Amino acid sequence: KQGEQVTIAGREYLTDQMTNVTSHLLSHVGRNLHLQKYHPLNHISQRIVQYMYQKYVSSRGNPLFSVHNQIHPVVTTWQNFDSLLIPKDHVSRQKSDNYYVNKENLLRAHTSAHQCELIGMGFDNFLVIGDVYRRDEIDASHYPVFHQVEGVRLCTKRDIFGSHQNMDSFRMFENGERTRQKQGVHIAQVLQLLESDLKSCLLGLATTLFGQDVEARWVDAYFPFTHPSWELEVKINNDWVELLGCGIIEQEILSNTGAQDKIGWAFGLGLERWAMKLYSIPDIRLFWSTDSGFLSQFQFDDPATNFKYQAISKYPQCSNDISFWLPSDGHCDSKDFFDLVRTVGGDSVEQVYLIDTYTHPKKKSTSCCYRIVYRHMEKVITQEEVNIIHKRIEEKATADLGVTMR
Ligand code: PHE
Repeated sequence: KQGEQVTIAGREYLTDQMTNVTSHLLSHVGRNLHLQKYHPLNHISQRIVQYMYQKYVSSRGNPLFSVHNQIHPVVTTWQNFDSLLIPKDHVSRQKSDNYYVNKENLLRAHTSAHQCELIGMGFDNFLVIGDVYRRDEIDASHYPVFHQVEGVRLCTKRDIFGSHQNMDSFRMFENGERTRQKQGVHIAQVLQLLESDLKSCLLGLATTLFGQDVEARWVDAYFPFTHPSWELEVKINNDWVELLGCGIIEQEILSNTGAQDKIGWAFGLGLERWAMKLYSIPDIRLFWSTDSGFLSQFQFDDPATNFKYQAISKYPQCSNDISFWLPSDGHCDSKDFFDLVRTVGGDSVEQVYLIDTYTHPKKKSTSCCYRIVYRHMEKVITQEEVNIIHKRIEEKATADLGVTMR
């Protein structure tokens, strides 16, 4: 179906023969899990931002990095590929690997797609946090949508050498030879400073989140937009898992964006991988769950809370609400109600929480509404069975707590 309008996160596009976005995929656009309060991806991105804020401060003690977490996910092929020096015939451009909106536009395959725009706007230190899209299998560690954090840091001569008196005699660039270790224009000593800053930043991030004892290693890598390039791997249950890609930004990219007098590094990390290790989350699909058995576990305010995820039952949830007027003396302890629910419902009840209270303006009486989430650990529990238990809870609450059902 070519020549149709599709609306993606508030923008309209015309489909053509390159279009391969599916409606199922598009239903994920705009969920913005990384912005959702208490979502594990939000917790972990906050920790990364905090770490970067503390690590790089201005002479006045303020964070150097800016955070861009609401950039529209549809980018041009120029942004996603050309601006990053990805060759016209490179495999990563294939229709089989990307979600194309049409010939010119696609859902970004990585947050690197925004590097040039932000550098061109004058940002020297920034993070981009957002959803990225790749055609892939769906298994425990792959999903067609995931989230990345991009970090870019550019340095001037002053950043590198400080305000040394003889700064004019120092050089950042030369007309050298490109080798496996460095780009032709970079002077080896300058490159070393930049490389050690990059690696200490990222290792520091990994140990801050995973603890001092985490086993980590650097592996040489290749990206068209950085040279040299590396990947950081950490050991998870005896397997080395790649956590991020990084490297020294190709000087050609900086020249193209008006930052030719600076040198810089960049990294891109997958938030789901980090969150799965940090919280022991076994399956990447869980991040998309709207199941309160998953989400309610992450309701803590300090993102640095030390926490491990508890597996939830694979059987479906069923929830029923219960609303009642409190006794006229106003006294009803919520803990009494929870005990009552547990007594009647036993293992079929997974959670109980207050969703609303209301005080009648004239009668001055108060009512509460609780949601009871039913789910058995060992079997599917039907709505009929739930209704019977729910009815018994209502009867017992009326009898024992003196409340009146609404
Ligand atoms: N964009 C790369 C990826 O998604 C990661 C990366 C970012 C590598 C920045 C180097 C520099 O795989």
